[in-house]
Amino acid sequence: MSDYILAKQNGRTIPLEDKIFGISNRAKKMIAEKGADSVINATIGSLLDDEGKLVVLSSVVDVVKSLEPVDFADYAPIGGIAPFREAVKKAAFGSFKPKTFTEAVATPGGTGSIRNTIVNYSKPGDQILTSDWHWAPYNTIAGEVGRSVAVYEMFDEKGGFNAAGFAEKAEELIAAQGSLVIILNTPAHNPTGYSLTLEDWDNVIAAIKKAAAGAESIILLVDVAYIDFAGDEEEYRRFLPKLEDVPENVLPIIAYSLSKTYTLYGTRCGATICMAKTREIADEFRRVCEFSSRGSWSNSAKMAQVILSKIYSDPQLLAKVDEERSKYREMLIRRGRAFEEEAKKAGLEIVPFDAGFFVSIPCENPDEISKKLEAEGLFIVPLAKGLRVSVASVSEAACRKIPAMVKKAME
Ligand SMILES: Cc1ncc(COP(=O)(O)O)c(C=O)c1O
Repeated sequence: MSDYILAKQNGRTIPLEDKIFGISNRAKKMIAEKGADSVINATIGSLLDDEGKLVVLSSVVDVVKSLEPVDFADYAPIGGIAPFREAVKKAAFGSFKPKTFTEAVATPGGTGSIRNTIVNYSKPGDQILTSDWHWAPYNTIAGEVGRSVAVYEMFDEKGGFNAAGFAEKAEELIAAQGSLVIILNTPAHNPTGYSLTLEDWDNVIAAIKKAAAGAESIILLVDVAYIDFAGDEEEYRRFLPKLEDVPENVLPIIAYSLSKTYTLYGTRCGATICMAKTREIADEFRRVCEFSSRGSWSNSAKMAQVILSKIYSDPQLLAKVDEERSKYREMLIRRGRAFEEEAKKAGLEIVPFDAGFFVSIPCENPDEISKKLEAEGLFIVPLAKGLRVSVASVSEAACRKIPAMVKKAME
């Protein structure tokens, strides 16, 4: 009898193994057999140092050590503790002060924000719009709640953001569904490392304003999971004021995550933050998001909420955390630049890259190429349209080696 018979009869045909974890497990096996020097594991989505150890900000660890039992053992209110709800808006917006009605509701990571936005602002059977290159769990999250993902081509023939393709697909879905949830993951997009320029943003907003005229509602979910690893924090928040220039039936929502910014991946903390044109829309947002939380994970964990509240109540501590992160960000940016340089030398085409944890390589037969590379000790992730390399998880020296290896495997 199949292991899956009881769930399968309900249509739950889930793959035996998560693709990325499967590759990572094979990398670990090879390390155990042949030693760490023979293997490059560029599959992992967290920031590792050059020795392959998880980077954890020591300034954040100090805050963890100062916590009282009640800070981590107690329930938090469903929407999050009050100081967190204020602190997380400051963390997301930086020095920008929105004129809109903003409400923040705690979620378990950015994932929770994506889930609650889809559940509350689309109908069962609807399609959610994102780019062809995208973080695969968007499909899982949408699928789990009876929605699916539709895509537009992210880049045009000049290698820029394909605003025309975006506009066309948005109009098409609005004509079919009446309303639309759009996910834009920027800056430092996963998996390409692309950041929308301010001009790209002008084009996106113009398209949304036009589409909104014939729509019941448009939700623009900006997934900023990598915002603090893209480059200067303020520079990469300059798009935020543009989100205010939309009509009342367009609701911008920020999916904010503490996973990368505070190296708190496992504490499962983030927030969903709205930028509403009216008090009523903001109040409704808070109500529906809290209701969905209650019906899925209930309260979010309290610990990281307290940590962020403490960081934002102490300007010196905040400066220390920001400074420590900036050193690691520089390390990550150096790795990305090294990869780009070597790709150019090797004649390896990569998808337009700005910054972030990943670089992508377009190719026709990603599964075949990655299999070949595994045999040589290089572990990367095959996607639908190419290969994803995590520069976050390997040293600069490895970033200099990988492009030529991939190029050779493609010949
Ligand atoms: C594009 C993108 N969005 C959102 C997330 C959410 O992460 P978390 O739920 O850990 O905050 C991730 C994490 O890898 C991501 O890559």
